[in-house]
Amino acid sequence: DASDIEKGLYPHYMLKEIDEQPVVIRKVISKYQDGQGGILIDPQLRERMTMADRIYIIACGTSYHAGLVGKQLIEKIANIPVEAHIASEFLYNRSILSANPLFIFISQSGETADSRGVLVAIKQMGYPTVTITNVPGSTLSREADYTLLTYAGPEIAVASTKAYTAQIAVLALLAFDSIREKGMEQLYGINPFHELSIAANAMEIMINKKEMMEEVVWQYLTSSRNCFFIGRGVDYYIALEGALKLKEISYIQAEGFAGGELKHGTIALVEEGTPAIALITQSHIRANVRSNVQEIMARGANVCMITMEGSEERGDQIVLPAVHELLTPLVSVIPLQLISYYAAKYRGCDIDKPRNLAKSVTVE
Ligand code: G6P
Repeated sequence: DASDIEKGLYPHYMLKEIDEQPVVIRKVISKYQDGQGGILIDPQLRERMTMADRIYIIACGTSYHAGLVGKQLIEKIANIPVEAHIASEFLYNRSILSANPLFIFISQSGETADSRGVLVAIKQMGYPTVTITNVPGSTLSREADYTLLTYAGPEIAVASTKAYTAQIAVLALLAFDSIREKGMEQLYGINPFHELSIAANAMEIMINKKEMMEEVVWQYLTSSRNCFFIGRGVDYYIALEGALKLKEISYIQAEGFAGGELKHGTIALVEEGTPAIALITQSHIRANVRSNVQEIMARGANVCMITMEGSEERGDQIVLPAVHELLTPLVSVIPLQLISYYAAKYRGCDIDKPRNLAKSVTVE
């Protein structure tokens, strides 16, 4: 569809692609529905999932960050151990493999050389492989045993947004699908499509609050050279993605940290006015993150809190609509994408084509 690759009235592809995310998630929902209330995934792949004693997720960049969220989803939902690896690391420093591994490659483009390097090596070893990609017919899709498409439509901006959330939605469906035989979904009482559509609505609510994220940039990021993102558990993975997004398009040095790890080194960097963004979406660790925030505020940090309805406190800047705790990444990443966008805009950066970066890296 030609209209997919036109900016229309948007000043940047990135903003257009951020806005498209709720529609993309709804598209994933409709594409993966089998019409009988089940998930449309190749039964052979389902069997591979159930038989695997360990899953290895391989990816680069933002897709790797989706892989970290995928690890959490598959372990929590399907109870299968998962390791997520950076492709270029795994290629030369391979972990010890389990007896029945399944490899999942995540790649927006399906062309990334580092990920393909691992795929080729794993195929030679004869292990089953699946690629989660946005591009049908791409190299990683053709070379893996199975493909799961993300249906995000062409992603033009170098900084990945809608491909990332679509990858997470597909990983959630893959995890839920694999427990169907075990009857475990009864245990959770979750209808994944219903929960994903609640998340899509929550994403839309956040997308409609752009001025709030612009305000955060004014308040925290106009004059800073650096910014910290903190969280625990799955919020830590979102902190990593938020930091990557901010650095790649605004060139502000940004790092994501696990809240509990701050005191083991990083807190030395906090001084008067250091900006930090804290994520709190998981109820079982919210007190811990709040106390990490206190620690850095006491040393002068300027902290923007992103919390979720039900766990918010007075003074929290951004409160996300409540969604299922496993799906919070789909919503919590939206303000981070928008904060990066407005920070880059404020600084006059080339948002869609940041310096030194390529959309698809086909060399090692
Ligand atoms: C490049 C892009 C990143 C992307 C990474 C992996 O570095 O700039 O945005 O996350 O490649 O790309 P892939 O197509 O494999 O997801």
